[in-house]
Amino acid sequence: MPFTLCGPIIRQFLFLRVSNPVRLDKFICECTSLTRSSAKKALHRGEISCNGVVVTDPGFKVTEGMEICLDGVPITLVGERYLMLNKPVDTICSTIDEVYPSVLSLLTIEKPQTLHIGGRLDADTTGLVLITSDGQWSHRVTSPKKDCAKRYLVQLAEPVDNSLIAIFAAGVQLRGEEGLTKPAILEILEPQRVRLTITEGKYHQVKRMFAAVGNHVVGLHREQIGQIALDPALALGEWRYLTAAEIASI
Ligand code: URA
Repeated sequence: MPFTLCGPIIRQFLFLRVSNPVRLDKFICECTSLTRSSAKKALHRGEISCNGVVVTDPGFKVTEGMEICLDGVPITLVGERYLMLNKPVDTICSTIDEVYPSVLSLLTIEKPQTLHIGGRLDADTTGLVLITSDGQWSHRVTSPKKDCAKRYLVQLAEPVDNSLIAIFAAGVQLRGEEGLTKPAILEILEPQRVRLTITEGKYHQVKRMFAAVGNHVVGLHREQIGQIALDPALALGEWRYLTAAEIASI
């Protein structure tokens, strides 16, 4: 079972899965920005505790369920990393930089290259991107079989009317695809500004759905994936770790 995070989240942490006991000095330097020698000094100074008791032995074995604190702040391990990012335009949801930089380059954390992106957005789309080291979790976000809803705010070139609600609910034929799109929920906010919720993630799906009805998407922003809404406190380009409740909701 992976470790779960308790207490405040400390940035710059590398979270790791520990199936076997780990030396305390190794644990500290892998979980924080401390080097092995600074971890040993912190131990020597009595700054590290395990389950409330100061530990000074660098060789002390950390096992699952222990709460290790540095200066009183828990650095309990989690098995995986999960975060949300407010993606700006001109970044891409690839793990490597191509024409535009990868969204991973916006993450001020250790080893971002070990993470992957659950549900990609186009370079000109903004909004919620979920990023994790947990492949099974991101599969639940992206697999069409899991019916994980993605909600978008869409700015359109042409006005729409209420008849489109039933059309999208019934499914539309995308060029090059075999069947109709799965039922989608359209909410018309203004004639050229709508909210669309889909449970699939076909290539350029939102843009192609509006193209299929003779319209054109001029602005696209993802607001929500499943129960996880983009945190309004995050400006474009900013990120935060997901809460335990958000992780469990997928
Ligand atoms: N649909 C699109 O067309 N583009 C995106 O970025 C996401 C969904």
